[in-house]
Amino acid sequence: MSVLSVSHEGEIAVVTLDNPPVNAISEEVRKGLFELAGQLDADDGVKAVVLICAGRTFIAGADVREFGKPPVEPHLPDVVTRLEQAEKPWVAAIHGAALGGGFEIAMGCRFRVAEEKAKVGLPEVTLGVIPGASGTVRTPRLAGLETAVELATTGKPMTAARALEKGLIDKVVAGDLRQEATAFARQVLNVPLPTPVSERPVEVRDEAFWQSAAKAAGRAGHRAPLAALESIRFAVSHSFEEAMAHERQTFLELRGSDEAAALRAVFFAERAAPRPEFLKGIEPRPVRTVGVVGGGTMGSGIASACLSSGLEVVLIERDDDALSRGAANVERTFDGAVKRGKMSADGKAALMTKLGASTDYASLGDCDLVIEAVFEEISVKREVFEKLNRHCRADAILATNTSYLDPRGIASSLDDPSRFLGLHFFSPANIMKLLEIVPVPETAPDVLAAAFALGRQLGKIPVRSGICEGFIGNRILKRYRAEAETLVREGVAIADVDAAMRGFGFKMGPFEAQDLGGLDIAFLQREGARKDGQDVPETLGDILVRAGRTGQKSGGGWYDYAEGDRKPLASATVSELLASKISGSATLTGEEIAARLVGTMAAEGEAILEEGIAASGSDIDLVEIHGYGFPRWKGGPMFWSERVSGTRQD
Ligand code: COA
Ligand code: NAD
Repeated sequence: MSVLSVSHEGEIAVVTLDNPPVNAISEEVRKGLFELAGQLDADDGVKAVVLICAGRTFIAGADVREFGKPPVEPHLPDVVTRLEQAEKPWVAAIHGAALGGGFEIAMGCRFRVAEEKAKVGLPEVTLGVIPGASGTVRTPRLAGLETAVELATTGKPMTAARALEKGLIDKVVAGDLRQEATAFARQVLNVPLPTPVSERPVEVRDEAFWQSAAKAAGRAGHRAPLAALESIRFAVSHSFEEAMAHERQTFLELRGSDEAAALRAVFFAERAAPRPEFLKGIEPRPVRTVGVVGGGTMGSGIASACLSSGLEVVLIERDDDALSRGAANVERTFDGAVKRGKMSADGKAALMTKLGASTDYASLGDCDLVIEAVFEEISVKREVFEKLNRHCRADAILATNTSYLDPRGIASSLDDPSRFLGLHFFSPANIMKLLEIVPVPETAPDVLAAAFALGRQLGKIPVRSGICEGFIGNRILKRYRAEAETLVREGVAIADVDAAMRGFGFKMGPFEAQDLGGLDIAFLQREGARKDGQDVPETLGDILVRAGRTGQKSGGGWYDYAEGDRKPLASATVSELLASKISGSATLTGEEIAARLVGTMAAEGEAILEEGIAASGSDIDLVEIHGYGFPRWKGGPMFWSERVSGTRQD
């Protein structure tokens, strides 16, 4: 059966595309649309054509799976042009999202109508490419330069209402889309057709406009947004045909780039992560009400994430003062959202009514899941779980948010450990996307499935981790920091290490990041391990903490800071403190430094894979990207190291 079918409503032909899951543009779709334009032009009974899609969305773009392969005719730009040149006007009827090639096809149609909830956009830059079928050439002609630059360089879609205001679509319709679009097509038969988009003039803007657009596009850190801008600029000063050829060439060049390959891999990894193979066919234990024990940094963030996703929450603290602080912490996260215009005051008030707060564990009696986020002390956690064992329903899931403790030790007081697992959120928990899910050997499959379902409901990227110190993410972080210190011992300047990692794409280097977060937590952990008799060698960080340098909060750590300023300044005190530990005078380029550090992360990742702690390299990459600021367009340490070593070509 073909993905395209035609039916008739009087003089209006309705072309329906049905190519699940998202009506992506395959070779069959391109060919079919191209041929239909000719067939319908030749049909005397047809006066106009409505293009509509079955399923959850209008055309969501080119088939990303075809991106790594050689392009096959007919090419999309020719299909779009063919639709534009059709004698019978085409009307795109948009529901869901018209993205990338999907929106380019819609621009080839003479008209576009959309449902209120629909979105349109050019997300290609998020996949490391630029639009390849007139997105950067037709959009400025259709809706002006500002809109074109916004759409093509940010990759963010626009709502139908905004798209209408900007001239990207002609009408927003309520009610049945097929009927509305057909009625619209009938109406336009009586009016002169608008000039095809490709024949419309483009506005001219001054240098200041382009400079400021380049500054914004450059912030993304990778090539595609600037390339999209450059393509739009080219389109302003050249003919339509020249601009199309230039856009296509840039698109094809970028399509084969490392960045595009990385972004594609991340795109698919993110979509696969929430529904892993090992949970196929397993029904998750239902979760509607969540208890959170501890309303500090993590507990309050977890509580607000749950509330925002429609769950009811009961917050437990150790005394009344801590409880009001905890509830206030939750409220503060919502206040922030209200201030940024992301939530209404009424919306916040409604969410706060779903928050229960108590110092009595008996209040957890109705909870389907309880997440513990108290101090990182095994004795405190054990005591909490003893109480949970007594007060919670027998089928309630019990979880710990521990960062470093062995979950098996925490759960030892439970009668039924099959309902227990680790749910490791990252700070701030209402914002950070990563959720490490750490089952113990006894964890029941429906409990594990419930953890992934919770991850989906909260909009997180859930990744299963086995048990080891620091799980996947903090274990790699520890190696990364240790290797950064090794570089310093070899004579590389602290600032050069940070600059190299910024150059690689991190927002911050390893030392600046420690100064921001504080050096003391990791120090205390090492000291704890030493007290327990473990052989933990002295780190350079230990020397700084012993000298009172715990980071920005103490006025200095790896760097000095001027009063009230966060700009790191090279520190003579640090040089003095560490002088006896520096045994070399290595001179490495930024690339060499980054290669060493990312290589170390990947080597630790390999060990993690061999031990079965992570299920796949792409899970490790997701942990690094969503929990530790690894640049998305480098694909994660596992992807990156395979790509540079040539073992990965996709
Ligand atoms: N090409 C190939 N497959 C695609 C795709 C594309 N352009 N867009 C989505 N898919 C696949 C996903 O991998 C997923 O597959 P799976 O079910 O096997 O895991 C499936 O379609 C559903 O995608 P998902 O994102 O989970 O659905 P959603 O309903 O939450 O969102 C979209 C739908 C269209 C908004 C979203 O998929 C999207 O933004 N896609 C990317 C569009 C894009 O970037 N297009 C430009 C390409 S140049
Ligand atoms: P925090 O000190 O900010 O909060 C802990 C809260 O627990 C406090 O409000 C305290 O009053 C409360 N509490 C202590 N004992 C209690 C008890 N018996 N009953 C009820 N409440 C009790 O700590 P945090 O940073 O939120 O960390 C909590 C947990 O999350 C720790 O296990 C930590 O390792 C883990 N974690 C922290 C981060 C982070 O970046 N802060 C990230 C991931 C995981």
